[in-house]
Amino acid sequence: MSALRLDNISKNFGAIHALDNVSLAIEPGEVVGLMGDNGAGKSTLVKVIAGNFAPTSGQIFISNKPAEFHKPLDAQRAGIEVVYQDLAICNNLSAASNVFLGREMTKPFGPIRIVDYAGMRAKSAQLFERIKSETRPRDLVRRMSGGQRQAVAIARTLLYDARIVLMDEPTAAISVRQVAEVLKLIRYLSDQGIAVVLISHRMPDVFEVADKIAVLRRGRLVASKKASESSPEEVTGLITGAIEAA
Ligand SMILES: Nc1ncnc2c1ncn2[C@@H]1O[C@H](COP(=O)(O)OP(=O)(O)O)[C@@H](O)[C@H]1O
Ligand SMILES: [Mg+2]
Repeated sequence: MSALRLDNISKNFGAIHALDNVSLAIEPGEVVGLMGDNGAGKSTLVKVIAGNFAPTSGQIFISNKPAEFHKPLDAQRAGIEVVYQDLAICNNLSAASNVFLGREMTKPFGPIRIVDYAGMRAKSAQLFERIKSETRPRDLVRRMSGGQRQAVAIARTLLYDARIVLMDEPTAAISVRQVAEVLKLIRYLSDQGIAVVLISHRMPDVFEVADKIAVLRRGRLVASKKASESSPEEVTGLITGAIEAA
């Protein structure tokens, strides 16, 4: 049973065909490296899966059941989490507050409910331990390394029991050592049976973690194959169009 299946997904923005009949299946625990030039449609694909845009046509299936997302919350409830390029985290808040951003834990306080900071710290400490990150719940995100920020973003995906994690260029702005940390986290998610879609321009990163390589060119999926049966040279050819399809 596929974690996620896309059947002939198209997305038009006026006259622009950002996605043109994209079909792709992703299994539980599978890591898919999604590659393509700027403007190829990668972010649009992520946004369609995450409920930011409705597809112009086509159907999404989650665990073989048709899914229709009208807003990101619908996708989140179906087990889909996104880690964006900018990580969408708040620098002025603690790690714990960021993990729970928009979904704060509350507890009763007399007749009302108040934010349960202690509860959120305890739960996020557990999550950081689970992903073997040294991040502490009270650490301010402003003072963190890129790798630690990733850990915060990934802890957030675990909080609601994500089944599919979409990562749009997560390693674009971080150092080599931090990239290694992020790749380790991706492997961890995969070991938990979580399907991961990794968008990256960094070919070595993709080939290090991906089970499958998917290549978009001008909105069309021109390849979807085992990473072990492809190569950086082939992917470069597919991205540029030197190789038509594989
Ligand atoms: N919100 C939008 N409105 C109009 N056009 C868009 C929008 N988002 C993306 N596009 C267009 O869709 C195409 C694919 O963009 P995108 O998915 O961002 O590509 P990638 O992430 O691979 O660089 C581009 O031509 C882009 O200009
Ligand atoms: Mg993009």
